[in-house]
Amino acid sequence: MKSKFLLMLISVVFFLNACSKDDNDAAEILETPVANAPKDVNDNGFKAKWNYVSHSKSYLLDVSTSEDFTTILPNYNSKEVTDLNEVVTGLTGGTQYYYRVRAKTEAQISDYSNVISVVTTGSNGIPEDPTFLKIKVNKLANPFFVGMAIKASQLTNGTPYDVILRNEFSSISAEYEMKMDQISTASGVYNWTVADKIVAYGNTNNINVHGHALVWHNAVPQWLKDFSGTDAEFAAEVKKYITDVVTHYAGKVKSWDVVNEAVDDNGGAMRNTIFLQRMGPNYVKDCFQWARNAAIAAGDTSLLLFYNDYATSTNIAKQDKVFAILEDLKTAKVIDGVGFQMHNTYLSPTKAQIETDLNRAVAKGLKIHVSELDIQVNQFNDISNFTNERRLAQKAKYKEMVKIYNALPAANKYALTIWGMKDNESWIPYSTELNHPGNDWPLLYDSNFAVKSSHTGFLEGLD
Ligand code: GLA
Repeated sequence: MKSKFLLMLISVVFFLNACSKDDNDAAEILETPVANAPKDVNDNGFKAKWNYVSHSKSYLLDVSTSEDFTTILPNYNSKEVTDLNEVVTGLTGGTQYYYRVRAKTEAQISDYSNVISVVTTGSNGIPEDPTFLKIKVNKLANPFFVGMAIKASQLTNGTPYDVILRNEFSSISAEYEMKMDQISTASGVYNWTVADKIVAYGNTNNINVHGHALVWHNAVPQWLKDFSGTDAEFAAEVKKYITDVVTHYAGKVKSWDVVNEAVDDNGGAMRNTIFLQRMGPNYVKDCFQWARNAAIAAGDTSLLLFYNDYATSTNIAKQDKVFAILEDLKTAKVIDGVGFQMHNTYLSPTKAQIETDLNRAVAKGLKIHVSELDIQVNQFNDISNFTNERRLAQKAKYKEMVKIYNALPAANKYALTIWGMKDNESWIPYSTELNHPGNDWPLLYDSNFAVKSSHTGFLEGLD
C-alpha cells in the first residue's frame, strides 16, 4: 500500500515535471540576433557579421538597397546561413546596402536584428552626383565663388584641368605662382609671364581671380632676404612691390591676400618673420594701406583685401591674435575679409570649432574666404589605401564645411576654395611642412579626374 502510494507520487512528480518542461520549451522565445559592422568591404561586396544566438540552428540573412527592406536582393532574401558571417558578393561598387538577420531553429524564427548599413568601396565607376559644383552654387539664393588652386601649366585649353575648371569652378587662386619670390626677381624687376597667364585665363573665362599672396614669409625672394639697406629702405622695397603688383593687376584681380600667416603657432604672438624684424609690428597694417592706396590710385575702388591664416579654429591663442590684428585693420578701414585656410582632417576641427571661428569674422562684418580647403584622411599613416570608412568620413566632413559656409549671412560670403584638383597632386601626401608621414587622398577628384564622394558631399552640403 505504502509502495503503491510512493509509485503514484513519483508518477505525479514526473508528470508535473514533464508538463512544466514542455511549458518552458514553448515559452522560450528564440533570441533576436545582433548584427555587427561588416568586414572586408570591397568593390562588389562585404562580409556581413552577427552574434551567436543560443539554440539557433541557422540564420536568415536579408540584403537590400533600401533601409526599410521593401525590395530584397534575390540571392539574399532570407538566405539561410549556418555560420556567424556570410560573404556577400555580386554587388555594385559605391552603393549603399543594408543587411539584417534572424535566428532560426526547427520550430521558430526570431525577430529581425538591427539593420547595418554599408557602402561598397566602388573604386571604379562610383555613381556619384555628377552635378557641377558652381552650377548648383549659382542656383542658391546667396551664391558664392567656388575656387580652385591652380598652376599655370594646368590651364592649357582642352585638357581635363581646363574642362573641369570651366565647368565646375568660378574662382582661381595660384597655388604659388603669384607670390613674391615668383614675381620679383630684383628690386623693381618683375617676371609677369606666368602670373599674367593665370590672370588672363580667369579674365577670359569669366572666372574670378583671387590674388595669393602679396606678403608671405615663406616666399621672400633671395635678393630681399639678402637686402643690406636700412630697415626703412627694406620697408620701401616691400611698399614698391605691393604697389607695383596691385597696380599691374588693377581691375583684373578681384581680391588679394595681402599678408599670409603673420601669426605664430605658439602662444598667439606675431610670427617672427623678416617683415616683423625689419618693419616692426605695424607692418601688416602698412602693407594693407599700401595695397589700398595703389588700387585707388589705379582706379580700382572695389579691390577686396584679405588677411589669410591657418589653424585658427583649433588654436585659440592664435585665433585671438588673428582677430586682434583684424580689429586693428578694421579700425584703419583697410581690410575687407579674412581667409581661413582650412587644411583640415577627417577628425578636426569640429563643426563647433569652425563655426565659432567663422562667426567671429561675421561679428566683425568681414567677408569670409575658406581659402585652401583640403581634408586629410591619413594623417596618422594608419591606412595604405583609401578605405571605404575614410571615404565616407571625408565626404561627411566636406559636407559639413560646405553647410557651415553656405549658412553664413550673404554679406559675409565670398569664396570657398579647394586646394588642388587631384589627390595625387595635392601638397599633403608626404608633406615635410606638415610632418605628414604617408600617402593621402584629401581632394575632390582621384588621380583619374573622377569625382570622389567628397565631391558629392560638397553638393549635399548645399541642400
Ligand atoms: C600655405 C600657403 C599656400 C601654400 C600651402 C601649401 O597654406 O598659404 O600658399 O603654399 O601652404 O600648398
